[in-house]
Amino acid sequence: MTAIKKKRRTVVDLKAMKSRGEKIAALTAYDYPFARIMDQAGIDIVLVGDSSGSVVAGYENTLPVTLDEMLYHTRAVARAVEQALIVTDMPFLSYQIELIEAKRNAGRLIKEGGAHAVKIEGGENIAETVHAIVAMDVPVIGHIGLTPQSIHRMGGYRVQGRDKSQADKLMKDAIAVTQAGASALVLEAIPAQLAKEITACISIPTIGIGAGIDCDGQVLVVHDILGLCEKYSPKFVKRYVDAASVVRQGVDDYLREVKQGVFPDKDHSF
Ligand code: KIV
Repeated sequence: MTAIKKKRRTVVDLKAMKSRGEKIAALTAYDYPFARIMDQAGIDIVLVGDSSGSVVAGYENTLPVTLDEMLYHTRAVARAVEQALIVTDMPFLSYQIELIEAKRNAGRLIKEGGAHAVKIEGGENIAETVHAIVAMDVPVIGHIGLTPQSIHRMGGYRVQGRDKSQADKLMKDAIAVTQAGASALVLEAIPAQLAKEITACISIPTIGIGAGIDCDGQVLVVHDILGLCEKYSPKFVKRYVDAASVVRQGVDDYLREVKQGVFPDKDHSF
């Protein structure tokens, strides 16, 4: 019997999911094996996040990540994913300078990387860019609240929108990005009540990360949920597995057996 292939998720499905009240589940992936496991599990969106800079490349933040690095990660993910929607982050300086550059770079992530949509950080300030990219039929996911590419302006990774003027600004940003044609909007590290109000106000799905239960979907960094990031863990991260201990155990056992001359035994030799 041939297995029935499930239909690929699209940005059109995301809107339908919002209207049905069906939650959207997203996770980051940067390589083939992780993306394959997620896709087979039925994750709706695989986000090739520029968090790769912190969790894979070991940079201090996402700012040094380049378009070439995002292309490399996206290609690896695209080779693994058959059903999920692949969204790739546009890294810092790939969309902020000139519209023409933003359009070309977004197009490259689709054409050379195999992404189905791109994500860009910002609100009213990037609405024109969202509009220009969407006008060439590349779906865009917005990202407001704590936007890691603005870390120096924000003075660190802080919850955004706690006071009334900040909250009003975030609501305006959400509306501007929606009106510019975005297909969904990531809300990062904002109060749950504000996320609920934004979610009710805009027609596109909201995907929360540290934005409470009332968003239309949730996203987390895979290394965080697996316990592979031991340095720092924000309050909104739930650690589902302690994979670092499992990896450490495997490395320790291998090291010991090699040093003791126990590995390779007969079963692992020709
Ligand atoms: O870079 C990233 O991984 C992200 C999310 C976690 C939202 O932008």
